Amino acid sequence: MVQATPFLLVLFLALGAHGLSTEKCNLTGFWKNDLGSNMTIFEVSKGGNFRGIYHTAVSATTKKIEKSPLQGFQHINPLNQPTFGFTVNWTFSDSITVFTGQCFVNDKGKEVLETMWLLRSHADKLENDWTATLVGYNQFERAEEQ
Ligand code: BTN
Repeated sequence: MVQATPFLLVLFLALGAHGLSTEKCNLTGFWKNDLGSNMTIFEVSKGGNFRGIYHTAVSATTKKIEKSPLQGFQHINPLNQPTFGFTVNWTFSDSITVFTGQCFVNDKGKEVLETMWLLRSHADKLENDWTATLVGYNQFERAEEQ
């Protein structure tokens, strides 16, 4: 235990220094992605839970697009660029999208969300299950809410 203490101290300081060496990326706020979709993420709780509203610019359906709720988690830890995941429950279609990603501060000091997603559509029967999932990538940038 006596020998382990200096080692743990060095480890703790190294991890702490790493956590402090990057600027903090904060999920709360208004974000716009490369497809023109936007979302608002409300306050992140102490446990890392958050809710928000997603307004997609595009749809795999012909239905009229409506703003839809999202719900997710981010990792709460000493690192400043947290990983996160959230689900959007589309109110105007039978689909669900799950996003997973990480919040970064880029070399221009701007916050960006690098995400990948799975969009699950409703399959009319088991045989068509294989047709029902799309995968993709979106980058979000913090934006001014209009
Ligand atoms: C649907 O078409 O059934 C619901 C809308 C899906 C929109 C997708 S989710 C992944 C991609 N990123 C966006 O911002 N919009 C599309």
